[in-house]
Amino acid sequence: MPPLRRSDVPRPFLKWAGGKTQLLPQFESLYPPAGQVRRYIEPFAGSAAVFFQVRRLLRPAETVLADGNAELINVYKAVQRNVSKVIRILSEHRKLHSKEHYYLTRSRRPRDLTSAGRAARFIYLNKTCFNGLYRVNSGGGFNVPMGRYKDPPILDADNLRNVARSLKGVDLRVAHFHETLDYARAGDFIYFDPPYHPVSETSRFTSYTRDSFGESDQEELAEVFAALSRRGCLVMLSNSDCPFVRSLYREFAIHTVQARRSINSRADRRGRIPEVVVLDYERGGGHEQNRLAVQPARLKDLRQDAGVSCEERYRDR
Ligand SMILES: C[S@@+](CC[C@H](N)C(=O)[O-])C[C@H]1O[C@@H](n2cnc3c(N)ncnc32)[C@H](O)[C@@H]1O
Repeated sequence: MPPLRRSDVPRPFLKWAGGKTQLLPQFESLYPPAGQVRRYIEPFAGSAAVFFQVRRLLRPAETVLADGNAELINVYKAVQRNVSKVIRILSEHRKLHSKEHYYLTRSRRPRDLTSAGRAARFIYLNKTCFNGLYRVNSGGGFNVPMGRYKDPPILDADNLRNVARSLKGVDLRVAHFHETLDYARAGDFIYFDPPYHPVSETSRFTSYTRDSFGESDQEELAEVFAALSRRGCLVMLSNSDCPFVRSLYREFAIHTVQARRSINSRADRRGRIPEVVVLDYERGGGHEQNRLAVQPARLKDLRQDAGVSCEERYRDR
């Protein structure tokens, strides 16, 4: 395959809390070596920033992109199958964009629209709502107010067409992360990017789907990670840097990357903060812990071992 021109390189087209675009340069040396990965699996796809990079650098023959958010996966499916129709409807939204149009579009029920119409509605709201947040009420209705943007970039048709090309043949699934256990095989490369464990009360942001992601989900995920590792998969995971997360993955190699984060109501808590990347394989050097042996996690003990909670640790900073 000839190298892509810069203008042909697909990029994430959604704003997504916890999106990894800014971390991609630091992730590059942490992936398994190119040529070793036949199948790539990303169970928390979000804006799929890592997928686009892995596809370009590692060129896996097969990919599974999954997320618990059904509306989000519908967007990828519609772009994969019918990008021209998504572009056509999105350009209508762009023409009509106004406060009235935003709230009218928000009030439409996705199930009353075609798949392409639902996808275009999702992209339009994502580009024009407050901070690109995704939040739904108890009935599943999107309820984020309109953001204040002078000229929001509602449609980049060239990029959407590039994305459609890169999604060709990709297996798109609405799935809970633990379903990865049902189909992952030895040798698969799996990247988990869950909603981050909050480092403080004010940094709590876990409502991408209707159900929030709490400590017991993080513990279950650590068990899934360990089980996939025992199966012989190559597993990578990112999360916030705090004692609870470090305890959950203490049997594995833990690397640190630096992120700029702005979803925090307190200005003094924005800026560069460390995040961890856990690997069950050797890569990159300079990690802080070597994997010893993967034991079935004793999660209750791990929780106690963590000692102070992340919130306590960061409270007075
Ligand atoms: C931190 S974001 C992923 C961001 C992504 N890596 C990116 O670059 O945009 C976490 C994702 O997990 C999804 N999610 C939340 N709970 C889930 C669950 N139980 N199973 C699968 N996906 C879940 C959310 O919908 C969200 O898209």
